[in-house]
Amino acid sequence: MLDSLLITGASQLLTLRGRGPRRGNSLSNLGVIEDGALLVEDGRIAAVGKRPKIESLPAARSAVKLHVGGRVVLPGFVDSHTHLIHAASRADEYELRIQGASYEEIARKGGGILNSVKRLRAASAQALKQRALAALKQFAAYGTTTIEAKSGYGLDVAAELKILRLHQELAAEQPLGIVSTFLGSHVVPEEYRSAPNGAEKYIAVLIERMIPEVSREKLAEFCDVYCDRGAFTTEQSRRILEAGRQNGLIPRLHAEQMARTGAAQLAVELEAASCDHLEQINVKDIRTLARSNTVATLLPGCDFHLGLKKYAPARKLADAGAIVALATDYNPGTSPTLSMPMILSLACTQLRMTPAEAITASTINAAYALRREKQVGSLEIGKLADLAIFEVADYREIPYYFGVNTCWMTMKRGVIIHGPDEAAI
Ligand code: NIG
Ligand code: FE
Repeated sequence: MLDSLLITGASQLLTLRGRGPRRGNSLSNLGVIEDGALLVEDGRIAAVGKRPKIESLPAARSAVKLHVGGRVVLPGFVDSHTHLIHAASRADEYELRIQGASYEEIARKGGGILNSVKRLRAASAQALKQRALAALKQFAAYGTTTIEAKSGYGLDVAAELKILRLHQELAAEQPLGIVSTFLGSHVVPEEYRSAPNGAEKYIAVLIERMIPEVSREKLAEFCDVYCDRGAFTTEQSRRILEAGRQNGLIPRLHAEQMARTGAAQLAVELEAASCDHLEQINVKDIRTLARSNTVATLLPGCDFHLGLKKYAPARKLADAGAIVALATDYNPGTSPTLSMPMILSLACTQLRMTPAEAITASTINAAYALRREKQVGSLEIGKLADLAIFEVADYREIPYYFGVNTCWMTMKRGVIIHGPDEAAI
């Protein structure tokens, strides 16, 4: 690692400094510094501001210099919703959908999440780990420095623990930050479906065995439930999330994706960290979310990949004052992308968010959704030196150039994890 590093020469340095999370008008406040500089010491931001001032600091004089040649520097993206660990793609279902089958029809026939569960249970931890490691490199290549990772393709004690232990191993063995979420309540697994009262029996396993074990081994910080038509009801979700909370797991929810069930209202009532998806919310839900600290996390990659026309009402949420975040929802069924820049492009054209709003939603607001706003999500003194540097002169060009990767360099804790290596700069 470079002990200290001085970064200069950015056409724009987006700090996102100041009060976070951001709502309403302040969603557009990127804290841009023209001719800015950033000093990194021991993996953290030691100083940030106008170049002449930062350059004159004694520590800056002895630092290694990195001139970024007129590119744009911003905080590394925080991808607050991913299903990192899965065994295989579901390209076969993708083709079936193109030919006319719906996501829910495929799921009812045993495809969908259950298809991924079958494959994950059969996969070795080693194979899952290799696949995840390759994905993590790709996340970094697109400017992401912290991700949330959910279990949820195991759905029995052994397989769920296998996933969560992999989160822990991966967090220790590679550079990206990984925040672990338990999603044993993704759907009711096959073996409980035909049994009388099967859903209740599975919920008993979740509450009495899995959640206490996850908590005992400290394998997750959050407990998530897929609360939707075809998954768990609001009443079931409430019981699972309350059990999670009693075991120290903070609630979050997959909410209102396929049908409006009341999941967003439940999320606010339970003071969930976030509720994610929200395609089907109504005016009342928008008002409730706007008055709350529950982050409205939007996942436009799902609607794009599934070919659905109804995106979440991002404009209304933002204008009403909700804390809006964006994430990839990287998963094999509904959103097989790990590119945050692609999500920014979709947020701009499909959700009508401005490029500035989309960047705020992918950095400081997403960090808040993961309870990491004191460590990451903005470039401020004391925070981790997690940076993404893009091969553009204006931050609006990040979403503008869709489908190509303009990320030039990614740094985690002051270490280059993507792009030209230290020797070349
Ligand atoms: O966030 N909706 C539930 N979970 C995932 C999809 C998982 C899958 O289809 O494998 C989602 O969209
Ligand atoms: Fe998801």
